[in-house]
Amino acid sequence: MKTPRAFYQPLAIGAPAPYRELPVTLERMIHFVPPHVEKMRAKVPDLISRVDVVLGNLEDAIPADAKTAARDGFIEMAKANDFGATGLWTRVNCLNSPWFLDDIMQIVPAAGDKLDVVMLPKVEGQWDIHYLDQLLAQLEARNGITKPILIHAILETAEGVKNVEAIATASPRMHGMSLGPADLAASRGMKTTRVGGGHPDYAVLADPHGDAPRAAFQQDLWHYTVAKMVDACMSAGIRAFYGPFGDFSDTAACEAQFRNAFLMGCVGAWSLHPSQIEIAKRVFSPDPDEVAFARKILKAMPDGTGAVMIDGKMQDDATWKQAKVIVDLARRVAD
Ligand code: GLV
Ligand code: MG
Repeated sequence: MKTPRAFYQPLAIGAPAPYRELPVTLERMIHFVPPHVEKMRAKVPDLISRVDVVLGNLEDAIPADAKTAARDGFIEMAKANDFGATGLWTRVNCLNSPWFLDDIMQIVPAAGDKLDVVMLPKVEGQWDIHYLDQLLAQLEARNGITKPILIHAILETAEGVKNVEAIATASPRMHGMSLGPADLAASRGMKTTRVGGGHPDYAVLADPHGDAPRAAFQQDLWHYTVAKMVDACMSAGIRAFYGPFGDFSDTAACEAQFRNAFLMGCVGAWSLHPSQIEIAKRVFSPDPDEVAFARKILKAMPDGTGAVMIDGKMQDDATWKQAKVIVDLARRVAD
């Protein structure tokens, strides 16, 4: 299905590409593993059966003096395991770091045949993707890697958000994009020290003159960026993800944040802690009642046109399409 591009071919930006076809596998949670920690690497065989994607993290949260050990550990875990249908990704260090080049130059020759996706942090514009695209094309050609390695961008700088559409269409290798709320907060000068999730100060007050008590309701700090990212990704035919949720003790808030992202069109989120695996699995799989209702819609409108009433609610061609999104996802979950 996917065919590699010869390394000397020019980028065909915006043009239909030979391997534009994306995997339709589930990617509900991208589970982060610190590969320099032997104890964590030892858990990978068990993780493979529990998560949709295993990601070896080489970037933030890996201390500078452990960068080489993390890279070597990732290669070791890639070689030592059969990942089957579970995705194998790595998050490399950012392009202007002292480690990026060695990350790519060592990992692709050693484990490129097993690697599905390179997650590239701090992407500012399409030029970052072009550079990695060409580097991967050269290394694939040199090492006889026939399955193209895809690129996943982290949207986590103000400049990146400004260029999100161009990033999404920068290469036929683009797999998708994740919101990086921690770096994005810093880049934007937001006044928070949290990794994703809400903030009690980001709230609206009810009308003091109305009947309702003057309670504050927290808003979703990430609504604007998630919406912008989802539109950019869906119009480019790639996938959108919510990124990290740093407060492992607040599972309810994590679930609420993931659920907002799911409703908005994201297909998954990062799991940084084992407790977040089940949350992501639950949230990014469709609700059985929703699926049952969606099936009713599809059944009531076999050719997808017209208007019918179901349980007092009007359905038409557009709600048929909504229902199909949910039923298609339910089928993938059931497979
Ligand atoms: C993730 O990398 C983030 O910065 O939130
Ligand atoms: Mg980050």
